Amino acid sequence: MSAGIDLENVCCDFGTFRAVDNANVSIKPGEFFSFLGPSGCGKTTILRMVSGFIEPTEGVIRIGGKDVKGQRPNQRPTALIFQNLALFPLMPIWENISFGLEVRGVDKATRRAKAEELLKLVDLPGAGDKMVSQLSGGQKQRVAIARALAVEPSVMLLDEPLSALDLKLRQHMRAELRAIQRRTGVTFIYITHDQGEALAMSDRVGVMSQGRIQQIADPREIYNNPVNGFVASFVGENNIFEGEVQTAASGMASFSTPHGTFRARLGDLGDKKHAKLYVRPEHTLLSTAATVENAVLVTIGDVSFEGNFIAVHASTESGAHLTSEIRNDGSATVPEKGARMFMSFDPARASILPDANVRA
Ligand SMILES: Nc1ncnc2c1ncn2[C@@H]1O[C@H](COP(=O)(O)OP(=O)(O)OP(=O)(O)O)[C@@H](O)[C@H]1O
Ligand SMILES: [Mg+2]
Repeated sequence: MSAGIDLENVCCDFGTFRAVDNANVSIKPGEFFSFLGPSGCGKTTILRMVSGFIEPTEGVIRIGGKDVKGQRPNQRPTALIFQNLALFPLMPIWENISFGLEVRGVDKATRRAKAEELLKLVDLPGAGDKMVSQLSGGQKQRVAIARALAVEPSVMLLDEPLSALDLKLRQHMRAELRAIQRRTGVTFIYITHDQGEALAMSDRVGVMSQGRIQQIADPREIYNNPVNGFVASFVGENNIFEGEVQTAASGMASFSTPHGTFRARLGDLGDKKHAKLYVRPEHTLLSTAATVENAVLVTIGDVSFEGNFIAVHASTESGAHLTSEIRNDGSATVPEKGARMFMSFDPARASILPDANVRA
């Protein structure tokens, strides 16, 4: 009941503008795969090509191993869910859900039974006779998902389906969506510009920038081992030092910057020496002694209490801004504003990375 999707060298041009540039990805049957990236990076264009609303300018798309070139949207085993749901306000919920079956000539009793089964699946048992206007935003979203599932697609395509909901509901719906995906086993391709959503729900994430897929990996790998500066900065926070690679051996390099020379993991810079070093605020330590390596003298600035962690803002001698995050374990000591301390980081938790993979 689920199918894999392969994109091979897929490009999409709008006139002279290339919206998707050489996308290559193999999404497995039953996988929850997200495309994550900022506005305009080409996410929706990829979904529209998979669903058949537009054809790639170049390249091949396979669904369940079959090239779908020339197949219209209604001939593909896909269902698309948009940001605005377009439920029919004058139909009760159960008819909304089974509408696609009515179009296919399925009889009323079967449609009603199928609608009830899907309402249970999306945790709205017994809501079939309600009207759309009686539902909350999250409930409407679940009806839209039930409606898409009614036609038994092998692939669900979801284009920022939670963006209209408030934060609490969005977080709740993350878990719901993931649970629905697990229960059905249908392949989900999920589009979002919200890194938290992508990391929390997905088996794998494809991070995009300017039409190019930058990295495809599971959420931990994306967060812990970003391949370039774009992925590192788009997913999570960083302290960034610009500098030059001095010497390198077995994946580690010595890197000179205006703030000192640091040791860090070396990413794929090609033959470049000039690059940036990225280290996450939660991977830094503040101490009063410079006995450790990779230490920078800083003056403590604003300290903000965020609940589960404490963000400490600090500046270097030359005025660069750095941030350290201390986990709030209930007894963490918080540095005084104005104190002079050393911010340090483990070489294994810092990476020297190239910038984004973009067109020249
Ligand atoms: N029909 C079209 N004609 C011309 N340009 C288009 C068309 N559709 C999309 N584009 C352009 O292609 C690029 C990618 O658009 P797309 O809708 O895929 O972005 P997105 O990643 O989904 O962004 P958002 O997060 O804002 O929805 C954008 O620069 C957009 O302006
Ligand atoms: Mg979009």
